[in-house]
Amino acid sequence: MSLTILKGTVVSAPAPGRLEATENGYLVAEGGVIRGVFPVLPEQYAGAAVEDCGDDLIVQSFADLHLHAPQYPMLGMGMDLPLLDWLNTYTFPLEARFADPDYARTIYRRLAAELAENGTTRVCMFSSLHTDATLILMEELEKAGITGYVGKVNMDRNSLPGVLEETTEQSMSETLRWLEACGDFRLVKPMLTPRFTPSCSDELMAFLGKLAAERTLPVQSHLSENDKEIQWVRELHPDCKQYWETYAKYGLWNDRTVMAHCVWSDERERAAMRDAGVTVVHCADSNQNICSGVAPVRTMLQEGLKVALGSDIAGGDELHMFDVVASAIRASKARRILDSWQTDFLTVAEGWYLGTSAGAAYFGERPGFAPGNALHALVLRDSDLPQPHPLTGAERLERAVYLRQKDAIRAVWSAGRKIFSRE
Ligand code: GUN
Ligand code: FE
Repeated sequence: MSLTILKGTVVSAPAPGRLEATENGYLVAEGGVIRGVFPVLPEQYAGAAVEDCGDDLIVQSFADLHLHAPQYPMLGMGMDLPLLDWLNTYTFPLEARFADPDYARTIYRRLAAELAENGTTRVCMFSSLHTDATLILMEELEKAGITGYVGKVNMDRNSLPGVLEETTEQSMSETLRWLEACGDFRLVKPMLTPRFTPSCSDELMAFLGKLAAERTLPVQSHLSENDKEIQWVRELHPDCKQYWETYAKYGLWNDRTVMAHCVWSDERERAAMRDAGVTVVHCADSNQNICSGVAPVRTMLQEGLKVALGSDIAGGDELHMFDVVASAIRASKARRILDSWQTDFLTVAEGWYLGTSAGAAYFGERPGFAPGNALHALVLRDSDLPQPHPLTGAERLERAVYLRQKDAIRAVWSAGRKIFSRE
């Protein structure tokens, strides 16, 4: 069985708010599966090849649980409109371009490479409504060594007529065609993706709920992101008291469900997420950029909800998860201020946990570099940065959330395989 032994300062997040550092330690994986972190190399590995990372940090790689692949070309653009206008003005016209497989190939190859180089090794990702482009996206992620879930987007109403649209029939038959073609992927799996309630007819939602149950497929969507969106959902589903019930009604609400944003989810909606085991994806950058609001992320954690982080590009302007972690921490402080200092903020260690261990938990992993987890790791260099005093491993990681030297990420492992190296 293939053996990987990395030597360096190993820092991981074994529990929310706790960083565990082993200076000059050994991270050992066999057949791509972590055996442990050891201060001294165990006897049984004596003589095996060791990848010496010197003084570099060896840390967990990231999980980005919500991003829109076809919005990658508009990263950093179109931030002047709120959600619904933003979708119609910028997002839908761009997503329409992914009817062209060549365009999709070029963009998705670049996106996959950028994810790998920046240490994002697990994703839950939205494609566009196009089946072929979605398969191309999955191919490119797989080739780059990225793991996780991708969804062909379903949107059979309130789209952009003549530009980006699908009928109910097309949405259903294309979803089936897409699922048929997904069988060959090893690292990237399909996830049902009703865009959000306003985009999907009742008939389509019912079809997707049934499909999810029949084939035990996970589901991702958006929830309670923006005030006008929430009002619209209320008008579309007068029988539902709250937004989440429009998903629950159709069997799209369980412990494999991932809901992005949840900015305005009140206590009742949050309880519904906790009780069903739904994973909330906090997208702090996007929530601020398109003026959605400041999600009560710390309160959600306190209440026992499962919370992970998402870049939500291109509502979010940052693909790099170090920055996404920093944004989540800043947003939690804004929330605290808005709450008249009555709620807590996220510590750096908690933010780091959300960006790594909490996201990995969705894929069935235990926190930190736990034995039995697949090897997902990155090597981080900070030797060029000035030091106020000799720093501990945990302090170095905390600084890295806010500050990194050029080309700081030296190597990345995903599912046991080295997928990027700067040397
Ligand atoms: N709600 C429905 N579609 C989208 C999208 O593409 N981005 C965001 N942020 N929210 C959405
Ligand atoms: Fe989104």
